[in-house]
Amino acid sequence: MDSLDGKTAVVTGAGSGMGRAFAERFAKAGMRVVLADVEEPKLDEAVAAITATGASAIGVVTDVTDGAAVDRLRDAAIDAFGRVHVLCNNAGVAGSAPSGGAWVAENEWRWVLEVNLWGVVHGHRAFLPHLVEHGDGHIVNTASMAGHFPGHSAYTASKWAVVGITEGLFHDQRLRAAGVGVSCLCPGWVDTAIAESERNRPEWAAPPRDVEPSAMEEAMRAFVVDQLRSGMQPAAVADLVHDAILSGTFWIFTDRQMVAALEPRHRAVLDGTNPPTMGLDV
Ligand SMILES: NC(=O)c1ccc[n+]([C@@H]2O[C@H](COP(=O)([O-])OP(=O)(O)OC[C@H]3O[C@@H](n4cnc5c(N)ncnc54)[C@H](O)[C@@H]3O)[C@@H](O)[C@H]2O)c1
Repeated sequence: MDSLDGKTAVVTGAGSGMGRAFAERFAKAGMRVVLADVEEPKLDEAVAAITATGASAIGVVTDVTDGAAVDRLRDAAIDAFGRVHVLCNNAGVAGSAPSGGAWVAENEWRWVLEVNLWGVVHGHRAFLPHLVEHGDGHIVNTASMAGHFPGHSAYTASKWAVVGITEGLFHDQRLRAAGVGVSCLCPGWVDTAIAESERNRPEWAAPPRDVEPSAMEEAMRAFVVDQLRSGMQPAAVADLVHDAILSGTFWIFTDRQMVAALEPRHRAVLDGTNPPTMGLDV
């Protein structure tokens, strides 16, 4: 896209962290923004902060696991601003750290996949026909470096799937010459509230009651929280997203060292050798 000024962006998971930073960056670029989140107070706060700068913004309470709610989000955006140019499928949850039993709990997998994968699928289904009809626009899906490193968790599964379908969408749109750009955001550690995703866990996905985290699991959680706190600031990621939309760049990486750490795995795939130790746990 040549310019974002005067255009409209829809961002899911915009009440907190990276999503909020994207909405703020887009508003600064002169866009009208539609913020969507399941957490209403945080959503209201984010919308108020953006409108206080003089920018146009609305909030739409949306649970991205609910396809009809994502349809209503699209309709609300079109009602408010006429059309949508940019969609960021960004809402996400981390789920629990793998713990004795919880890591294979069915409701854990369903919750994480419903938010992280189905949220993106609903976004494509609800918004793509609108973008294609107008012959321009851009979709940014928030995956993760966890979508490139192996891991036996619902989070890893969801992010590998998002990387795969986002790359597939890129080819699909190019083949159709539909004029819709596609980017895949794969952040490393970013200083957000993702470690407190439990706040959005629905009742039906309650974790097994009788499983206490082990000392190793506690240590792993402390490591993750520490990495997040010393991670990149969301506003810096938002700058990368803004620039990628304008330049039509597909991959948006925030940590080149993590990308370099993929090399042994890719080499082993080409050579047909057993998976190497990756050196980095994401
Ligand atoms: N922080 C990191 O280090 C990191 C790294 C890689 C990828 N990510 C991904 O970045 C994205 C944004 O997360 P963040 O790090 O800003 O964390 P965050 O917790 O600050 O923001 C996530 C937002 O998603 C919202 N959300 C959760 N479930 C939802 C649902 N069902 N419907 C609508 N909204 C919902 C939350 O309310 C929250 O506002 C996620 O997809 C996450 O997996 C984060």
